[in-house]
Amino acid sequence: MLEIKHVTKRYGEKYALQAVSLSLSEGVYGLLGPNGAGKSTLMNIITDNLKADSGEVCWDGIAVKKLGAQYRSLLGYAPQQQGLYESFTGRRFLCYMGTLKGIRKKQMHDEIEHAAGYVNLLEKLDRPVGTYSGGMKQRLLIAQAMMGDPRLLILDEPTAGLDPKERVRIREKIKELSAGRIVLMATHVVSDIQSIAKEIIVLKAGEVAARDTVDALCSGFGGAKDLEEVYMKLFGEEADHE
Ligand SMILES: Nc1ncnc2c1ncn2[C@@H]1O[C@H](COP(=O)(O)OP(=O)(O)OP(=O)(O)O)[C@@H](O)[C@H]1O
Ligand SMILES: [Mg+2]
Repeated sequence: MLEIKHVTKRYGEKYALQAVSLSLSEGVYGLLGPNGAGKSTLMNIITDNLKADSGEVCWDGIAVKKLGAQYRSLLGYAPQQQGLYESFTGRRFLCYMGTLKGIRKKQMHDEIEHAAGYVNLLEKLDRPVGTYSGGMKQRLLIAQAMMGDPRLLILDEPTAGLDPKERVRIREKIKELSAGRIVLMATHVVSDIQSIAKEIIVLKAGEVAARDTVDALCSGFGGAKDLEEVYMKLFGEEADHE
């Protein structure tokens, strides 16, 4: 189980996250909120790529700071920014990421083939990443996150830039993958999450504004017909938080 306890992060005077507390168990969670709401900041803190000013993140009751490499081996993270190694082939990139995760050499080939198969990239693995299209790079990021059978999968806008067919495919894969693990997925494509999420977490200016099932959120907002309508009721009137 993942627990986020009173996590606060400030940039200068501005709170990117303010006393965020959440506990997540098996299943898919959708993380929604406008640009600047704090989604990526939260994910960077959960994955231990960014230090919170206060509060902590625990896995099965133990602070992830203490778990170190053990935490990295159970974690899969596809960040929002595509910091890919353009001159690497897809295969070399996956091998590199797998090594960082502690995947053993003799398992590496199978892990790479399995992850690349998931995102439909098997045929492109021996091309340099620099020659990939935007959507292919996005899929490679998802593939590296899936390597090593992570129990916690953090996906920051994984379907951004994918064509509709590939988006649906990835969505179904994510749903399939959610058995036995926690998946936290940030997205602006509300329809990508509506049908697969166990719960939706809504961030608003660094705070958790709502957390519930899609159905409960819809009925809580005067019988909104879908999640899109809930979102518009929450944010329709305001400018983003930048
Ligand atoms: N390195 C940084 N320095 C200063 N401010 C930052 C930094 N990183 C994030 N912020 C600010 O923190 C807030 C939250 O940003 P964050 O990237 O977490 O939002 P987000 O919800 O992921 O947005 P988006 O939907 O655009 O990806 C924003 O106001 C942003 O400007
Ligand atoms: Mg973001």
